[in-house]
Formats: sequence, C-alpha cells, structure tokens
Amino acid sequence: MENELTQQQVNFFEQNGHLTLEAMTTPEELEWLRRIYDSLLSKRVGWEQGHQFDLAGTDDEDQPKLPQILGPSRYIPELKDTLYRANAKAIAYQLLGPNVQDQIGEHMIYKPSQIGVSTPWHQDQAYHNPTQFFRNINFWLSLDDATVDSGCLQFVPGSHKLDVLPHHSINHDPRIHGLEVDEPECWVDQAVACPVPAGGATLHASYILHYAGPNVTDQPRRAYTLVFRMPPTPRDIPIDNYWERQKQTARAERSESG
Ligand code: NI
Repeated sequence: MENELTQQQVNFFEQNGHLTLEAMTTPEELEWLRRIYDSLLSKRVGWEQGHQFDLAGTDDEDQPKLPQILGPSRYIPELKDTLYRANAKAIAYQLLGPNVQDQIGEHMIYKPSQIGVSTPWHQDQAYHNPTQFFRNINFWLSLDDATVDSGCLQFVPGSHKLDVLPHHSINHDPRIHGLEVDEPECWVDQAVACPVPAGGATLHASYILHYAGPNVTDQPRRAYTLVFRMPPTPRDIPIDNYWERQKQTARAERSESG
C-alpha cells in the first residue's frame, strides 16, 4: 500500500501535474467502500439537499448520466476513518508541506455502464472562487479497474502550470453543472490516459486539464475523490468566471430551498 512517494514520483508529479498509484487501500476496505457507494447512489442520498446531482444533465431524467455526491461523509461519518484517507493525507503532506488544511473536499463520481457519458476537458479550478489562487491535490480512487473504455482519467501533462482558461457549461446549457474548457479540441493530441486498477488512484494538481471518456464497458466506473488544499491566497485580479455566474441548476435550487 502506498503512503509515501519516492523522490522520483515527487519529481514526476511536480513536472507533469499527475501521478498514478497502484494501491491506496486494502481489498477489504475497497469492498466496504463499494457497498457504501452503491447504497448512497441507489437511495439517492443527498438529492433533496442538492448534494447528489447529475454532473452532465439537467436532473430531470430518470437515469442520470454522471451522478455525483458531494461530501458523502456527511451521511456516512465512517468515511473519515478510512485507510484510503490516511494514506492520501500522508502523501498530500509530503507534496504540499505541513500547512495543508484540515477540511478535505470529497466527492463520489459514478459513470454507469453504457450510460455514463464523457467528462469533458476541464480544469477543476474553473468551478472555484475566482478571487483566490489555489494549491490543491485531488486523489481519484477507483473502486473498479478503470480503463480508457470505462472512463479513466486523461491529462495534459504540464498543463497544471497554466492559469484558469475560459470554460462553458456542458452543451452550453447553464442548467448543467459540469464545465468544459473552450476549444477542447486543442488539447486532445496531448492527452495521456491513466488506467488504474481497482484500489489504485490517480493524483492531479489544481490547474491541470483533464478528461474522462464515456463508459462503453459492461462494468460500472466508480470513483471516490479526496481533495487536499493549502490555504488559498488572494489574486490581485480576479478571474472573470462568467460561466459560473450564468449557472441555473436544479441542484442549486434544491440546495437553497432545503
Ligand atoms: Ni475534474
């Protein structure tokens, strides 16, 4: 199990902005996580509160294309005590230093077999506060063998050194939560696909461009991410994130009325 990186892995991460680790937890914990994961999704836990929603749709379809749950440990506190979390934390400290914040970002992203659509090219920071500069590390634990065909992550190496690029809502529909970078076709040729076995994870840095294809296999693609953050610093000039100001999602409406 991995909870300490070699100097070579640290160098690779700093240069490329991503890294693949083969084992972040035990088979027993993985099995437990799968049961929790399936139960939260099938019961639509957090839907009323806007914590569960379709990243790639308008939330008015019976079968979401890319269901996501934000902060699942709100509902299952034991998720805060996993080996996965402890190992990820140790690696985050190694990469970011001792000032890593206690509060961890956390979500589950489910790509159903045959139904799950692509996650378009984007930078995670396009979703975040435009007045601040971030230094985060995102751990993407795969509960299944993630392959190119099931929707493993793909990265543009070195793009974590870019600032936030202009984005738009998926299908240019502000009712959809998910974002896509403008002119995604510019990045496709540089993509590096990062398959990962069940129980392994990919790590990525704040500003890296990434993508995941549709799930065209007969297996689900279940991912559980943890995000470790340094205290953000103010920007001199905020980013003009007009794509977020235009949003009108059903999820936000549920969250405000709940
Ligand atoms: Ni992302």
